Amino acid sequence: MDAVTNLSGPISPTEQLRPFDVRRDMGPVADLVELCFADTLDPEGKRFIQRMRSAARNNGILSWAAVNAEWLNMPLSGYVWEQENILVGNISLIPYNIEGRRSYLIANVAVHPDYRRLGIARELTIKAMEHARKRGSPGVWLHVREENDQALELYKSMGFAEHARRTTWISTTEPPQDELGIKSIFITPQGYHWSILWDWIQHNYPPEVTWHLPLNSKVLRSGLWGSIYRLFNRARNRQWVAQHDDKTLAGLIWQASGSYADLLWLAAPSDVDNKIIQTLLNHTRRQLGTQRLLKLDYPARHSVQGIRKGGFTPQQTLIWMSVDF
Ligand SMILES: CC(C)(COP(=O)(O)OP(=O)(O)OC[C@H]1O[C@@H](n2cnc3c(N)ncnc32)[C@H](O)[C@@H]1OP(=O)(O)O)[C@@H](O)C(=O)NCCC(=O)NCCS
Repeated sequence: MDAVTNLSGPISPTEQLRPFDVRRDMGPVADLVELCFADTLDPEGKRFIQRMRSAARNNGILSWAAVNAEWLNMPLSGYVWEQENILVGNISLIPYNIEGRRSYLIANVAVHPDYRRLGIARELTIKAMEHARKRGSPGVWLHVREENDQALELYKSMGFAEHARRTTWISTTEPPQDELGIKSIFITPQGYHWSILWDWIQHNYPPEVTWHLPLNSKVLRSGLWGSIYRLFNRARNRQWVAQHDDKTLAGLIWQASGSYADLLWLAAPSDVDNKIIQTLLNHTRRQLGTQRLLKLDYPARHSVQGIRKGGFTPQQTLIWMSVDF
């Protein structure tokens, strides 16, 4: 193990920073993550912890995961901090490929409340960055809730810079508004101008902050080829396009998901009128019904009024940060 120095001096025999061992640490890390993120876990986060716990009970999965940890797009590698043989700190490293280059996302940075302000998170982050650098990664990324001042302080002090803010919106069960925002907008289920919609989607969902989302033009595209692809891949989606005098103003694509909420992709230029977004979202909720939740990931501060009036409420805003090596 490398020599590590924390704020209180060299590591003592009772404390240890070591690589995450999937066979022995999965259960304790699930407990720590649950404790540290109790206030902010969404249904997906809770499901993630349940999956960690059931994996921790399954030796077959653990052996397989131990061998593949460096290659799986999952938080199966990282580092932990032990104090008197109790696991009190964790950092996960999620490897992913973007435009052919391997990179890492830092996640699940958590320190037990009784051991905070001792420099543990800082040492874990240094170690995680070293890990990525040694494996040829051009840098590391992470995301943090915008109200998490403590973590933001930590990351800024380590050279991380803000790259983007994204808000996750969740549909409410309020009945969709009857009245359309602008009477002259015509909403059609056909995507006549798929290339325009796709350009807007690519702009609103840049790969460096959406690589973890199931964004795939073959699945989403309109027309015959899209329908054939979905048929063979058992994917389901629907789309609505707002038009005015044959001009495409914006589009919204619904995609079925196995998660607690189906997904929406909003294809719109950055200067789109809020009323168009409001109209599209209300129309979509009317068509789909309001029982099943809908989730929309979108650049923060964009079209806020339109999305709110379309029947959505913000679940969280994440700041995506990165540091280059
Ligand atoms: C954020 C967290 C991981 C920090 O762990 P920690 O071991 O206490 O952090 P460190 O002692 O290494 O602190 C490193 C720096 O972070 C910042 N920081 C940490 N806690 C802070 C606090 N309560 N107030 C202000 N700044 C704080 C400081 O800049 C600190 O440096 P300094 O002590 O030299 O001033 C811990 O508070 C935690 O587990 N929080 C809940 C889970 C969470 O929010 N994780 C981050 C998700 S992105």
